[in-house]
Amino acid sequence: MTWLDVLQSCELNEDTKLIFIGGGNMAGALIRRAVNSNFLTKDDIVISVKSKGSQTKWIDEGYNNTFLDNNDMLKKYPTGIVFICVKPQLFGSMVDQLEEGILQDSPLVVSIMAGLSTQSIAEKLHSTLYSQSIVRLMPSTPCLVGASASLVCYNQLPENNRLSIVTELASHAGTCTILDEKQFHAASAVAACSPAYVYILIEALADGGVLAGLPRNEALTLAAQAFQGAAKMVAETGKHPGLLKDEVCSAGGATVAGVRLLEKNGVRSALIEAVKASTERSEEMSKIK
Ligand SMILES: NC(=O)c1ccc[n+]([C@@H]2O[C@H](COP(=O)([O-])OP(=O)(O)OC[C@H]3O[C@@H](n4cnc5c(N)ncnc54)[C@H](OP(=O)(O)O)[C@@H]3O)[C@@H](O)[C@H]2O)c1
Repeated sequence: MTWLDVLQSCELNEDTKLIFIGGGNMAGALIRRAVNSNFLTKDDIVISVKSKGSQTKWIDEGYNNTFLDNNDMLKKYPTGIVFICVKPQLFGSMVDQLEEGILQDSPLVVSIMAGLSTQSIAEKLHSTLYSQSIVRLMPSTPCLVGASASLVCYNQLPENNRLSIVTELASHAGTCTILDEKQFHAASAVAACSPAYVYILIEALADGGVLAGLPRNEALTLAAQAFQGAAKMVAETGKHPGLLKDEVCSAGGATVAGVRLLEKNGVRSALIEAVKASTERSEEMSKIK
């Protein structure tokens, strides 16, 4: 679907803008992917940031609709689809500075903030007179290269097919899974926090290669490709990862010797605990007012 198709299917004007409150790492990855994959143009995007330095960077990249004041931005684009992309702990103070009723003509509000529930977002936005459904999108930074495992949930289904705005944007950045909000903390840990875990694993694998005598660049390239290849095998063969592991381990061979060391050092348990810790932290963050 093109962006125009999406807007038409949602009964929205073809000049409807996507408004990003916050233009940091995650919003930047989403925006650049959507533009680089020709789903959106730079003119479809409006961004607000906190600092002049960030604004200048966006303008230098050709994004001319950038603001340092959210009220100015929302007054200029009152019918834009709003993506809230500030840190969760700054959400309250950001909303406190919005003028009453400023979101009343926005067709949809989407939050990418980790942790904060649709209910707490809706309650906080009440003074802006935004009383319709809230959609949460949880992308991950691999969306920059079209490989995010994005998650979507909502409190009530947006009218006029407007959920497709979010699912189409996410699908241009990788996969998109719609979930019940109850599963969002755990799913965010597995899908959105885990790239950080995997970067550590890739770096460590490369360190092992360097220790064994490989040049750093070669070791890193090989380690990254090994992760990509293994992930593709799981996704495309449909085989259980345990079976795929068994197929690599020949009797008395080099691989199983490494596997023994991984098990001895608790790699499996460390990953399980990491997901548990990220899930619990996400739950804690949802209680911060
Ligand atoms: N990073 C991830 O992998 C990831 C994954 C999923 C979800 N998220 C969520 O994405 C959100 C942003 O995370 P991030 O990593 O992109 O953070 P970030 O890089 O620190 O970006 C935050 C952005 O918000 C801007 N900002 C702060 N206060 C503002 C205000 N009052 N009005 C408008 N803009 C304001 C900042 O402006 P300046 O640039 O001027 O400082 C910055 O551009 C968080 O809620 C996080 O939970 C992140």
